Amino acid sequence: MEIKKVGVLGCGLMGSGIAQVCAMAGFDVTVLEVEQKFLDKGFAGIEKSLGKLAERPPEKGGITAQQKNEIRARLRGTTDVHNLAHCDIVIEAVIENIAEKKKIYALIEGVVKKQAIFASNTSSISITELMTATKRPERFVGLHFFNPVPLMKLVEVVRTIATADDVYETAYEFGKKLSKVPVRTSDKTGFVVNRLLVPYLLDAIRAYEEGVGSIEDIDNAMKLGCGYPMGPFTLLDFVGLDTTYYITHVMYDEFKERRFASPPLLKRLVMAGWYGRKSGKGFYDYSDPNKPVANKL
Ligand SMILES: NC(=O)c1ccc[n+]([C@@H]2O[C@H](COP(=O)([O-])OP(=O)(O)OC[C@H]3O[C@@H](n4cnc5c(N)ncnc54)[C@H](O)[C@@H]3O)[C@@H](O)[C@H]2O)c1
Repeated sequence: MEIKKVGVLGCGLMGSGIAQVCAMAGFDVTVLEVEQKFLDKGFAGIEKSLGKLAERPPEKGGITAQQKNEIRARLRGTTDVHNLAHCDIVIEAVIENIAEKKKIYALIEGVVKKQAIFASNTSSISITELMTATKRPERFVGLHFFNPVPLMKLVEVVRTIATADDVYETAYEFGKKLSKVPVRTSDKTGFVVNRLLVPYLLDAIRAYEEGVGSIEDIDNAMKLGCGYPMGPFTLLDFVGLDTTYYITHVMYDEFKERRFASPPLLKRLVMAGWYGRKSGKGFYDYSDPNKPVANKL
C-alpha cells in the first residue's frame, strides 16, 4: 500500500519532530492535539527547527526558503479527530500512559479508514497491549523515533506476533522514506536500544556506588576509552532520571533480571526531585548550564 497522508497524535517533543520529518519527506501531515495551545507550542518548535535548517547550505542538510514554505504548507494542526479520517498511517506520540494511549486509539478506530496503519512511538509500553485497543491488530506496528527526531537517524520498526507482513514492510519502507535508518525488532520491552543501553547506564551507577571511580572519571573513561559522544552520567542527566527510573520498572517487570533493576542511588535522586538537566540538578549541578559540576553523592 502507498502512504501519502500521515496523521500524528500529539504535538509534544516527539510528535512535533515526527510531523516535521514527515512533511520534509513530502507527506501531507495532520497533527492532532487536545488543545490549540499545544499545537501552537509544537508548531513554534517546528518553525525554529526549520529556521535553523534554512541557515545551513544544502550540502549540509540545509533547505531553501522555498522548501521551507512548501514543508510548512504540508503541515496542519487540528483538535478534531475527524480530520484524520483519510490518513494512510497514524503515528501516536501522546504521553507515556497506557490508559491515555488506549483511549485515543479507541477514539480514532471508528474514524480513520480501515486500511490505515496504526503506529506507536512508545518507548516502554507493549505494542501488543496497545494493539488490543483497536480492531486492526494486523495493521499495528511500533515506530520508535529518537530525540531530537529531525537529527537522529534511527527508527526502530517493531512488529508484534499479529502484525501482517505487508504492513510491516510498508512501515519499514516508510521509515526509509523519512531518510531514517530503520532497524527491525520485535515487541520485547526496550526494543534494541533501551535493552542494551539501560543495563549499561544502571551499571555505571552501581560502579559509582561501589567506589570504582568518580562521576567525572567514569564519564571520561567511557567517552575517551570507548569513543562514546558522552559519558553515562551526562547521558543519564540528559535523558532524565525520572524517565530512566520509570523505564527500569517496566523493564524489570518484564524480564525480572537484576540488570534492569534501579540502583538505590537512582531512586534517591528521583525522590529528591533531582531529575537531571531539566530540574537543574542530577548527577551534575547545572547552575551554570555550560559548566556542569559533579554533585557529591
Ligand atoms: N522524549 C523522548 O526522548 C522520547 C523518545 C522516544 C519515544 N518517546 C515516546 O514518545 C511519546 C511522547 O513523548 P514526548 O516526550 O513527546 O511527550 P510530550 O509530553 O512532550 O508530548 C505529549 C503530547 O501529547 C499530547 N496529548 C496527550 N493526550 C492526547 C490526546 N488524547 N490526543 C492528542 N494529543 C494528546 C499532550 O498534550 C502533549 O503535547 C511517549 O510515548 C514517549 O515514550 C519519547
